[in-house]
Amino acid sequence: MNRILRIGHPLLLERSAEVREFGTPGLQRLVDEMLAIMEQHQGVGLAAPQIGILQRIIVFGMEECARYPECEPVPLTVLINPAFEPMEEDLEQEWEGCLSIPGMRGLVPRYRRIRYRGQDLQGRPISREASGFHARILQHELDHLDGVLYPQRIRDMRMFGYEEELALAPPQAGA
Ligand code: NI
Repeated sequence: MNRILRIGHPLLLERSAEVREFGTPGLQRLVDEMLAIMEQHQGVGLAAPQIGILQRIIVFGMEECARYPECEPVPLTVLINPAFEPMEEDLEQEWEGCLSIPGMRGLVPRYRRIRYRGQDLQGRPISREASGFHARILQHELDHLDGVLYPQRIRDMRMFGYEEELALAPPQAGA
């Protein structure tokens, strides 16, 4: 089983390639492996480059999530060649983590409401509207496909740290 690459690994900074062939055994195997790894690590999302595969494939969602007790359920989704557009300008700051940055959290601005689209394993179109946590996960995972990790989006680096330390006295988001 592939290991999850951690921040510092050069492949996490690469732009991933569009998927052009659908419904193949290789694509199915890759997605099955991504879902298994996400489940094993109790993640809410995983992008193919996090296991060293530079293809535009993300998996996300959970009925309930141990790592994010405050979260709303998000349907388990395989999304290939994803794209999104904001439905309103508003950005919302919330704490985020990433399986490639274990043990850490940061306060990250994301669009609150988006419309996203992509394709499923067979190449059929998927199109949805999402808000809040669901919209945040999508934006986080899509960033991975463009070589962007969430610390690059943090506005105030005091709002970044180890979750055990942050839990002691959460810093207040400042001006
Ligand atoms: Ni991540």
